[in-house]
Amino acid sequence: MKIQITLLSIAALLATPAAFGDAAAIYAKSCASCHGKDGAGATKMGKKAGARDYTTAEGQKWSDEEGVKAILEGVKDGDKTKMKGYTGKITEAEAKELVAYIRKFKK
Ligand code: HEC
Repeated sequence: MKIQITLLSIAALLATPAAFGDAAAIYAKSCASCHGKDGAGATKMGKKAGARDYTTAEGQKWSDEEGVKAILEGVKDGDKTKMKGYTGKITEAEAKELVAYIRKFKK
């Protein structure tokens, strides 16, 4: 019986992509609305917020550290929040995976 319960909780964990840092799933759910499925940032929200075009070398001109920081702490332009931070929702390890995922958008 105890073993069954353990197996069930493992199954529950596996069913939650975020628990295993599935960058693609997190990106599709929380980031694509602005940054676009293709990373170009050409969505309505992305254009409004001023998202970069991650398919170009120019749009990728930020360090991995800056990327992780942006994801966890958000991006501000003076008093205006360009992107909110995801601390508490996304772990640092997931943020690193997301940065690696975003790097792949460059053509
Ligand atoms: C409300 C729209 C919006 C959402 C949602 C959003 N972002 Fe952003 N993101 C932006 C904007 C705008 C910037 C700042 C662009 C700039 O001026 O550098 C930014 C910056 C970044 C940066 C820093 C590099 C850069 O472009 O300056 C990373 C990395 C990033 N976002 C990843 C993500 C990830 C991963 C998610 C989902 C967890 C996400 N963003 C969700 C709009 C958004």
